[in-house]
Amino acid sequence: MHPDVKNILYSEEELSQRVREMGALITERFADTANDNGIVVISVLRGAAIFVADLVRCIDLPLEMDYMALSSYGNEATSSGRVRIEKDLSTSIEGRHVVIAEDIIDSGQTLQYLIPLLKKRNPASIDVVALLHKEVEGQIPVDCLCTGFECPNEFVVGYGLDYAQKYRNLPYIGILKPEVYQK
Ligand code: IMP
Ligand code: MG
Repeated sequence: MHPDVKNILYSEEELSQRVREMGALITERFADTANDNGIVVISVLRGAAIFVADLVRCIDLPLEMDYMALSSYGNEATSSGRVRIEKDLSTSIEGRHVVIAEDIIDSGQTLQYLIPLLKKRNPASIDVVALLHKEVEGQIPVDCLCTGFECPNEFVVGYGLDYAQKYRNLPYIGILKPEVYQK
């Protein structure tokens, strides 16, 4: 285990098992509605990149992958409350079935900003899947097709999740030792 990690919350095996289940759920959700164009899976960069890379391989439908980069966090371990677009989609989502994939729902601000923004582009549907959902007081409720795990309100890293751009490459998700970000 990485020395900056206090303990492991979800092991590589647990993540892979849950991601497989989420892929099956998405496949089922669109089995009747997705035509030859399939669905568009939007990865919210950078945190969701690793999750989505695994997730799409568990979805048995034609699909397109696209990427959007938003920022609300900076390098801090608490939400700054501001969201802005750093990179927009490359493809039009008009008339398409869209699945937004997020690494973690914390304050809910990112999705509160993103969902209405994408709705204005007239997709056929929008669904959200999130690997983790944190229990946070005052969280903006976000309707999800599915979430992977209910996560304790701690700062977690690994499997795409970072602190100051570090730890994304850990194969598991763990709680970061508070002394690392309190330095
Ligand atoms: P929200 O807008 O507050 O819901 O925050 C969503 C974003 O904040 C996520 O996509 C993450 O990039 C980041 N974030 C929130 N909690 C954590 C955490 O515990 N570890 C790493 N990143 C986090
Ligand atoms: Mg982040």
